[in-house]
Amino acid sequence: MTSETPAGDEGSLDDHSAASGTDWRERSKTLRSDGGERIDDSRSSPELRSDGGTEAEGPDDVALDPWGSSTVSDYRTLFEQFGIEQFDEVLADVPNPHYLLRRGVIFGHRDYRPVARAMREGEAFAALSGFMPTGDPHIGHKLVFDEIIWHQQQGGDAYGLIADLEAHSARELPWDEIDEHATNYVLSLLALGFDPEAGELYRQSENRAVQDLSFELGAEANFSELQAIYDFDGETDISHMQSVVTQMADILYPQLEEPKPTVIPVGPDQDPHMRLARDLAARMRYFGVTRAYASFAVTETERELLGDAYEALDADLDEDERIRCIEAADWIEAEIVPDEVRQRVVEKLRSAGKEPLRPRTRFLDRNATEAAFEALIEAVDGEKRVYDEHIDSFDLDRETAAELAREVELANGGYGFLPPSSIYHRFMTGLTGGKMSSSIPASHISLLDDPEDGYDKVKAATTGGRETAEKQRELGGKADECPVYELYAYLLAGDDDEFAKDVYDECVGGERLCGGCKEQAAELMEQFLEDHQEKRDEWADELDELDIDLDSDRKG
Ligand code: TRP
Ligand code: SF4
Repeated sequence: MTSETPAGDEGSLDDHSAASGTDWRERSKTLRSDGGERIDDSRSSPELRSDGGTEAEGPDDVALDPWGSSTVSDYRTLFEQFGIEQFDEVLADVPNPHYLLRRGVIFGHRDYRPVARAMREGEAFAALSGFMPTGDPHIGHKLVFDEIIWHQQQGGDAYGLIADLEAHSARELPWDEIDEHATNYVLSLLALGFDPEAGELYRQSENRAVQDLSFELGAEANFSELQAIYDFDGETDISHMQSVVTQMADILYPQLEEPKPTVIPVGPDQDPHMRLARDLAARMRYFGVTRAYASFAVTETERELLGDAYEALDADLDEDERIRCIEAADWIEAEIVPDEVRQRVVEKLRSAGKEPLRPRTRFLDRNATEAAFEALIEAVDGEKRVYDEHIDSFDLDRETAAELAREVELANGGYGFLPPSSIYHRFMTGLTGGKMSSSIPASHISLLDDPEDGYDKVKAATTGGRETAEKQRELGGKADECPVYELYAYLLAGDDDEFAKDVYDECVGGERLCGGCKEQAAELMEQFLEDHQEKRDEWADELDELDIDLDSDRKG
């Protein structure tokens, strides 16, 4: 999107399916298998919504736009179309999972396994997320605060950053407002339990290391790429583009001193950033490690074809016999349907002629300095062949080779980045139904709301209840479509699964009526806000001692 994109709402978008239920695991399965249909159901029967809930908009395509107002009407698309993986599948590997993980509020991830492994094995890992200081922090942001803090408590290096450059460039916010909001984000993060001594808080504009890294990363990305990913065009500000490479640097910042598994907790609207960051991390690497079969360079699809030929021919060979490239060419021509890939592979094989086809581990020179390439040649033990842009090893397996490549890279001035991981939380439903939005005060609860206003907003919320108490007793409430139930599951029940489950069961079983349910939720919300704000006040007195400058003297 260009800078004309209307301001959206970060970390706050909607979905009508609450993430939890009687059986958390069952619920997330339901969301996977029939989420779309269920959501459509609720749309076709808006009359069933009891207290004036606005009807949701029609289902739209899932568009992941970091600066637009993304909605996710069907989480399946994120798995199928974007390749986000289901969090369910790694949950069992995570020690002491946080309730947001247990309840499926965090529904997806990219590559979380290395983080979970580091956590289990007591090895170094990090968690980082960033906040655009465009408004007050609200209960949607609390999800991310909690995720950072939980990872810190599990032993990770934790980072919370204020995306002030992004707010200034992509949202055109003046610096005095940015400062005010930045302070509010920092205070809430601290009040919820972030330990600033163990972790790091920073603002993009003040972090020289991030700026320097962003400059280096910018050398690996070009305009066409940003255009394809973010829909940028000729009208897009340069500063906006700069804020993208700044975010890339934020994401890799925890690995500046040494590479380590790093998780970035975000909403799914940030996924385009994650994909680019993972790409750039790989592009910065000195060496790529792949499998290969012959001396010449191949693409991935070409390599697969070589692999097939090798497997087939190898099966009929005696120990001391060798497969020649030319034989592989014959095999491929006989067995594989002609297409461009086949054509190219056959040509390469024919020009290699009698060269033996032999599996090997290949180090590709991606971004290495000459000295690093020389050092790698030295470091590869056993049988090897050295070419202009790659080294083939016949003795090292890929894992050992990857480790060696990273060691040599680090010893020779490279970063050795691991691809960053991410976890994705569901967008919360607005209290008035539809989307939770920073620009609609009644739709969300700000962490700065007067506790009594918080109470009132919950009392005025839309529910998944029936139009009469009688019907509710008979049919049960629709907890899965109820923003109030969501408040319990995402926040009010805290760590108490039993409590959240009871609310759910009582609701769908018809024992719980909305009036009392909302009263209870409203009181809990009021209490939460009181406690939270008390802690904020305590931290406010200590802000000066922190390492983060909350008064910028920038103009504009
Ligand atoms: N772009 C994010 C947002 O819109 C903020 C952000 C900046 C961020 N840097 C980050 C998020 C690094 C995660 C990691 O809210
Ligand atoms: Fe929602 Fe509670 Fe009413 Fe159930 S009883 S629909 S959870 S407000």
